[in-house]
Amino acid sequence: MFSYKISDSLYYVGVNDRKTELFERLVPLPYGVSYNSYLLIDEKVALFDSVEICYAEKTLEKIQNTLGGRNIDYLIIHHLEPDHSSGIQQCLDKYPDIQIICTKKAAEMLQGFYGINANIKTVNEGEEFSLGKHTLKFIFAPMVHWPEVMMTYEISEKILFSADAFGCFGTLDGGVLDNQLNVERYFPEMERYYVNIVGKYGLPVQTVLKKALNYPIETICSLHGPVWQQNIERVVGIYDRLSKQDGEDGVVIVYGSMYSHTEAMAEAIADGALSVTKNVILHDVSKSDISQIITDIFKYKGFVIGSPTYNGAIFPKVQDVVEKIELRGLKNRIFASFGSFTWAGMAVKLLNEFGERMKYEQIGSIEVKHSMKMSDYEAFYNLGKRIALRITED
Ligand SMILES: Cc1cc2nc3c(=O)[nH]c(=O)nc-3n(C[C@H](O)[C@H](O)[C@H](O)COP(=O)(O)O)c2cc1C
Ligand SMILES: [Fe+2]
Ligand SMILES: [Fe+2]
Repeated sequence: MFSYKISDSLYYVGVNDRKTELFERLVPLPYGVSYNSYLLIDEKVALFDSVEICYAEKTLEKIQNTLGGRNIDYLIIHHLEPDHSSGIQQCLDKYPDIQIICTKKAAEMLQGFYGINANIKTVNEGEEFSLGKHTLKFIFAPMVHWPEVMMTYEISEKILFSADAFGCFGTLDGGVLDNQLNVERYFPEMERYYVNIVGKYGLPVQTVLKKALNYPIETICSLHGPVWQQNIERVVGIYDRLSKQDGEDGVVIVYGSMYSHTEAMAEAIADGALSVTKNVILHDVSKSDISQIITDIFKYKGFVIGSPTYNGAIFPKVQDVVEKIELRGLKNRIFASFGSFTWAGMAVKLLNEFGERMKYEQIGSIEVKHSMKMSDYEAFYNLGKRIALRITED
């Protein structure tokens, strides 16, 4: 188990997790995930974050092979979520003289989660800390996406250790630097990571982006995914755009349908939208994974949602989407709703109430009894077209 050399002083000692099916027991990991950990070797040696407990031994082996007989002086903790902190005790067992450096809130969590309370130095926002030739500067990042989070900027090499920010799903296969890897496969996984894990906290992300981007950055070392050097602008752009919640040109049509009546309506809406824009995505809630559905809703400006009435309410899996979007407080969408019923329609009314609560601009709403007839097709087609046209106006 060897580390990857990033620069003369900086080494990657993180690990790939190809076994976990669901991140946070919720979000599928079709391409796995990496838990990143970095070693900076100077007059003093600093380890930047630990890893998930199952992988701690692997990381410690990499550290030992990199350091030879040297000790670790400091463990800088950016985030206490257990995917980065549950291996800390193993680190301390092997290197008992480590001093932990973290925020006051992180120190409380260290005590609460692991009973660790000795040899901890808590730092303040903007404080500098020397390792020799390298100087660390701490940037607090509260609620990205936990309250104790901080980032570290290393002044001499212009490295931003960014905690979960700029992270993505996907393992690091054969290298860690973005210029070695085919990075295209990571960008969709970055969007899915952002929306599902960080998505509720757009404002704190915007605040910390403004702070961190004041510094010249040549390398971003996030806690998940590649080390970014050549694609910094693109990566920052993805986080900036998604956290601003602006939405790109395009229409996402999400629907539930047991017997395909509602589906036929979704397809008619898609036909109309496609006459204006190529970015039209249809998601059947019973087929697409909800993590991808909400990612696409965050990504695009047009949001159309459809449901049959089911036991006097919204179809359950459509309701899940509604709740996930409402929980994340997604703003600024151009919205339409549709659905079908057989004896007493309710789903579309409830979907419209959701659109109102979210303060979305409502373009239209159609509910049809039994099934969509040939004579209804045009109304659905036009709804799709209108929403796509409205988006291109902006
Ligand atoms: C379990 C179940 C519950 C339903 N509940 C209602 C209801 O409360 N009110 C209503 O008008 N229709 C109800 N329906 C009928 C459906 O809303 C209607 O058939 C709709 O067109 C189905 O659309 P789909 O083909 O897209 O699944 C229910 C159907 C099922 C299977
Ligand atoms: Fe996290
Ligand atoms: Fe994480």
